[in-house]
This record gives sequence, C-alpha cells and structure tokens, in this order.
Amino acid sequence: MRETTTSAAGKICLLLVLFLFDGGACIKWLALGRAWDGLAWTREACTEVRNLGLLERKQAKVCRATLDVMPSFVQAAKDTSTVCQKAFQNRRWNCSSIDRAPDYTSELVTGTREQAFVYAMSAAAAVWRLARGCALGSLAACTCATPPRREPPSPSALISSSSYSKNSMSFALSSKNSFKWGGCGDDVRSASRMAKRFLQGSSPQSAGAVGKFLHAVNMHNNRAGRRAVEQSLTLECKCHGVSGSCSVRTCWRGLGSSGPTVAGARLLRRYASAMEVTPRTGGRLPPLYHLDNLLYTTKSPDYCLPDKMKGSLGTIGRQCNGSSAGYDGCEYLCCGRGHVTKSQEIIERCECKYISCCYVKCKTCRRIITNYECN
Ligand SMILES: *[C@@H]1O[C@H](CO)[C@@H](O)[C@H](O)[C@H]1NC(C)=O
Ligand SMILES: *[C@@H]1O[C@H](CO)[C@@H](O)[C@H](O)[C@H]1NC(C)=O
Repeated sequence: MRETTTSAAGKICLLLVLFLFDGGACIKWLALGRAWDGLAWTREACTEVRNLGLLERKQAKVCRATLDVMPSFVQAAKDTSTVCQKAFQNRRWNCSSIDRAPDYTSELVTGTREQAFVYAMSAAAAVWRLARGCALGSLAACTCATPPRREPPSPSALISSSSYSKNSMSFALSSKNSFKWGGCGDDVRSASRMAKRFLQGSSPQSAGAVGKFLHAVNMHNNRAGRRAVEQSLTLECKCHGVSGSCSVRTCWRGLGSSGPTVAGARLLRRYASAMEVTPRTGGRLPPLYHLDNLLYTTKSPDYCLPDKMKGSLGTIGRQCNGSSAGYDGCEYLCCGRGHVTKSQEIIERCECKYISCCYVKCKTCRRIITNYECN
C-alpha cells in the first residue's frame, strides 16, 4: 500500500517536472519587452539573450538569421503584457504575473487556461507587429499584401466597413467598376509565417510523450493566436475623385489602428470556452478540436487565496466594485470572504475663476470617494 503511494507521488513529480520543462520555454521571450527596447540587434545580442535564457534554441537561430524582425518581437512582448493586463484587470487572475518573465509562476508553465491565453496572445501580438513592420517597409522579407485575386467587393458587401458612412450617397450610386484593390494591405500571411518560425520553438527532445503532447498544445494555442489576427482583417477603403466625390475607391484588407486589442478580445472569448485535453499516446492532439479553440491540460486554481505551488496570488486586498455582479464585483472577486469599505474625503480646489492676469480664485470642495477592498 505504502509503495503504491510512493510510486504515485513519484509519477506526479515526474509529470510536474515535465510540465515545468516544456511549459514556459517558448514564452520566455516575453521578457524582451522590458529591457530590450531600442536594442540594436546583432548576432552577438541574439547569443547574449539566448544565454540569459530568454530565447529558446530555435528562436535564437531565427534571431541571428533575421535580425530585422527582432524589434517587432520586442514590441509584441510589450503588447502581450498590456493587452493581457487590460483584459484581465478586474479578474481574480489579473495577468500581473506575466511581467515576471522569464521566471514565470507555475500557472503559466503548467498548461492552464491562462497559459493558453498568453501563448495565443503573444502569437497574435507578434503577427500584428510583424504585419505592421511589413507595411512600414522595415522588414526585408515582406511588404504589402498581394491583393486578393477575386474582384473588389460590391458596394453592398462594404456596408459594414468603417469608412462606408462617410460617402454613402455617392458611394451607393457609383458603379462596381470604380472599386479597385490598392493601398497597402497588411501582409498577415507572411507575418504569420515569420511569427510561426520564431514561436514554434523546438519540440522537447528528452521530455517523452507527455512533453511532446504539451508542446503540441502550446503550439496549437500559438496557431489559434495567429489565426485570431487573420480573422481580424477588415476591408478598409479610401475615396478618391474630384473633391471627395468618391468616383474611385481603393480598398485593401487591413488590421486597423487599434493594435492587437481586437485579436485580444477574440482570444478572451476563446479563453472562456477553452477546452481541456489530456495527454494521449504518441504525443499527438486528438483530431476533434477546431483550430481556433484554446486548449489547456491542467485545471486552473480558483486564484482566491495565495498558493505558491499553483501560481495563485490570491485576491486579498484587491479593489472590487461594490455594485457589480460580474468578475469585478466584490462578491465574486473576494471569493465570498467579504470586503471592507473605505471612504475617504478628498479636499480639492474647484470652481476656479479667472480674475485677472496672474490671479485665479478657487473654492474648496469636499468629495467622498469610496473604495472596496477584499478581505
Ligand atoms: C493584480 O493582482 C495582484 C494579486 O492579487 C495584486 O497584488 C496586484 O495589485 C493586481 N494588479 C492590479 C493592476 O490590479
Ligand atoms: C461598478 O460596476 C457598475 C455596474 O457594473 C458599473 O456601472 C460601474 O462603472 C463600476 N464602477 C467602477 C469604478 O468600475
């Protein structure tokens, strides 16, 4: 009996080691967002960053071979942190741990839902930044997207496009022939290919079937992230013609100006519907999962109380919203432990009036602000 327990514990340990082995290796590069901004990338810099453990072997190879893509990855690392923390700011897990890269806490290396989101988001951010780099002409390997082979869309297909309303009248009257592909479409396909080469990482050689499986899950989530950017492409158009008559309209497929946030919102929905998978023989993923789904292998902790082993910081002391029934509401965020209400009187200058040069007269106002804090 005792022996069985020991061997079970041994197995769990081994499994944990494997998890930790592969878990965060391919997102350590997110640490580049902090100190490596503005770095002039050289082959030596790639090696140095590799020696610091921020790049995985294959990533360092890509770095040395295509130095010009590295600034895009540095920006993407920043974007990943920003978008993730914005998306999760009022939740129990608020993505603050992403800034610990490359020394992640265990929730980002054990195959949780949160790890799935971070893998996907980092891939999405990388594709977005690379595509932007392509369009700006700062990358050697790509420029603008080749226009689609099919005809430009007919006016009715454009109704949802953002620029439609501006010239809707003349637009509705103009003939189909006045549309053409032009401008600079975002070359998401090339960007996605470049991102893949970098993010793919090498499959763990010594980790066995479980390690291979976890690697496959991570790579699946990476791909889901890249696809989320491809799906965020929208038709963007610009009017030409005499005094904005819009007799000619050029259109391209673009990513807009809102950054990787759009893809982030898409991935947040997929985070909510992520699916659990369990290791199978051969380290392959079961075929029934759609490419867009996020996959996880380990159930997340509830993040209510601090638990170092599980990577939970707990929600004690977090600000909550006294009138919300959602994730940010005190009831949910404080996990039923209750909260303290802290009122604070603020005295400030207000209703200031300009009297004459150099003299402004103000009143003193008192304002009460209320904060709610989890027990
Ligand atoms: C995120 O959560 C941690 C742990 O609960 C907390 O210490 C930190 O202040 C939170 N960050 C933000 C921006 O709310
Ligand atoms: C609190 O939640 C309510 C209801 O969801 C919302 O209207 C309000 O803006 C929130 N307040 C803060 C400070 O976030």
